[in-house]
Amino acid sequence: MVRGDNAVEYLPDSAVDEALDRELRELLTVCFTKPQDTVFKAQRYFRQPYRHRWVIRDEAGRLSAHAGVHEKRIEADGRHWPIGGVAEVCVRPDCRGRGYVKAMLACAHEWMTGNGATFSVLFGRPEVYASSGYASVDNLVHDADNGERQSVKALVKVLTDVPWPAGVVYLPGPKF
Ligand SMILES: CC(C)(COP(=O)(O)OP(=O)(O)OC[C@H]1O[C@@H](n2cnc3c(N)ncnc32)[C@H](O)[C@@H]1OP(=O)(O)O)[C@@H](O)C(=O)NCCC(=O)NCCS
Repeated sequence: MVRGDNAVEYLPDSAVDEALDRELRELLTVCFTKPQDTVFKAQRYFRQPYRHRWVIRDEAGRLSAHAGVHEKRIEADGRHWPIGGVAEVCVRPDCRGRGYVKAMLACAHEWMTGNGATFSVLFGRPEVYASSGYASVDNLVHDADNGERQSVKALVKVLTDVPWPAGVVYLPGPKF
C-alpha cells in the first residue's frame, strides 16, 4: 500500500515482494554509507532478517524513513524477558529533521507493548533516541563473532513497570 501522506505505515516482512525489497534496499543504501553498509545493496537487513518494520513515504509515495524491529529476548538472574530490538533506523537525507524517528518509534513501541515486549533495545547514538525515552545501559553482554560474550553499550526504553535488571543482562546472539 502506498500512502504517500507522511503517515507511519507498518510493513510486515511477509508482505515484502521483489519491488518493495528493491525500494527498501535503495533507501538503506542511500542512508547508510559506511564501507560495511554495502551489504544493503544485496539484502534488506544488516546482519539478521527481522519480521517487522515501520516506514514513512513522502507525498510522491517514495520511501523516506525506516525502522526495523527484531523479536529477541534478554536473560538476567535466571529470568528472561521478550524485547523489541530496533535496527536500521534511517531517514532519507532530504527528509531529515522532521521528527520521523520519534513518529516511527512511537508506533513500534505501541506494537511491542501490545505484543508482550518488556523493553525496547537498540544500539545507536543517545542524542537521537533520548526524546523517544531511551537511556544508556552498560550491563548488557551479547555473543561476539568469536563465540565469547562481549559487553556492549546499548540504549533501552522500559515499556512496562518492570525495571531494567541491575546485574549482567545477556542478549543471546549478535548485536542488531
Ligand atoms: C540518524 C537519523 C535517522 C536521524 O534522522 P532525523 O530525520 O534527523 O531524525 P529526527 O528528526 O526524527 O530527530 C530525532 C532526534 O535526533 C536528533 N538528531 C538527529 N540527527 C542528529 C545529529 N546528527 N546529532 C545529534 N542529534 C541528532 C534530533 O535533534 C532529534 O532529537 P529531539 O527529538 O530531541 O529533537 C538520520 O540522520 C539517518 O538516517 N542517518 C543515517 C543512518 C544512521 O546512522 N542511523 C542510525 C542512527 S543511530
